[in-house]
Amino acid sequence: MSVRVTEPDRSGPLFEDDRLKLGLFGFNITAAGALSRSKDRHEISWQQNVDLVRQAEAAGFEAAIPISRWRGFEGETNPWGQSFESYTWASGLAALTERISIFATSHALTMSPLLAAKQIATADHISGGRMGLNVVAGWFEKELRMFTAKSLGHDERYDYLDEWLEVVLRLWERNGVDYAGRHVQIQDGYLEPKPLQNPRPPIMNAAFSPRGHETAAKYADIAFVGAHDPHSAQKQVAEIRKMAASHGRTVQVWAATSVICAETDEAAAALVERYRGPDADMPAVENAVDWTMGAQMTPDLREVIKAGLASTMGGYPLIGSPETIADEIGRMADAGIDGICQTFMNYEAGLPLFVSEILPLLEKKRLRPARAAAAGEGGQA
Ligand SMILES: Cc1cc2nc3c(=O)[nH]c(=O)nc-3n(C[C@H](O)[C@H](O)[C@H](O)COP(=O)(O)O)c2cc1C
Repeated sequence: MSVRVTEPDRSGPLFEDDRLKLGLFGFNITAAGALSRSKDRHEISWQQNVDLVRQAEAAGFEAAIPISRWRGFEGETNPWGQSFESYTWASGLAALTERISIFATSHALTMSPLLAAKQIATADHISGGRMGLNVVAGWFEKELRMFTAKSLGHDERYDYLDEWLEVVLRLWERNGVDYAGRHVQIQDGYLEPKPLQNPRPPIMNAAFSPRGHETAAKYADIAFVGAHDPHSAQKQVAEIRKMAASHGRTVQVWAATSVICAETDEAAAALVERYRGPDADMPAVENAVDWTMGAQMTPDLREVIKAGLASTMGGYPLIGSPETIADEIGRMADAGIDGICQTFMNYEAGLPLFVSEILPLLEKKRLRPARAAAAGEGGQA
């Protein structure tokens, strides 16, 4: 039943050279950086999202990646409770940008693979060949129950996702698609026009679990480590690459990071203390833990996870002065990480700071091309 996974179109910036790739992540939802009621937390408007993606594009970021979210974690301020739907968001931004890759995010269980394949194909035409599909198995039951979605256990959701992706890949390649899986069926599937990217757009799968990594290694072009330090990142990178090689494939391996930058390490640490303490929306944090993974956790681990959700959403922490953060990114690259996507507590302050203070240090380390040189080559100024 399994399909040969074709290579993606490699002509875009995501595959340009061996530079460390950068992706702006999650800015389509409120409080993306942490489940916080802080005055610093991210609130969304369309114009602000347009401004942020244009800033990221001008700085040479390779990707803009939304979070697909359908409800928040309630509590005092319902963090994550407002979001722009990812396909319409991606299409709008695609029309307003020129170079950056734009991803749309699907929970496979909530959407027919035909509809997802068709929407990506359409947005690929709108963008001139810059769309990508980020696909997730989903984990938020309260959210999935709002759909006519099957109720499946963790690993079974990835079995479902495998079949869903096989159908998407076939539809991008040809018509007359018949598929009779255990979870997904389609008869005489037809999709025209095909995506502009030939043979197909890139696929990202941000799974962290061993079962999830199997799916990513088999079908995705960009997989993720769920690491918080260079040592575990290096181990996971090796495991994912080995899994991909067993399917005759190569994948990029990225990390999702949470950036809290201040002039000094001490000032950044003080911010984290504030976010974890008085600024945390603790009832929302408790809900997030209970509604997702609470039952399986020891009390000690629960406290660690809660502190993370209140300050960094559990991403790979990039906390400190610009120098400290640039050095840590260097260690991530040494561990084999190909790209990082970033959330900020406050994107409107955090992104310009990243671009003006951290990016030049990454250029000095030769992790990123010098922007003046890139502009001369037809890249971004
Ligand atoms: C870059 C990135 C994007 C993600 N996007 C979403 C999303 O849009 N919606 C969602 O429900 N989960 C999202 N997730 C969560 C993952 O899909 C996944 O559920 C989580 O990493 C747990 O991994 P596991 O399912 O393998 O246990 C994202 C994670 C990362 C790192």
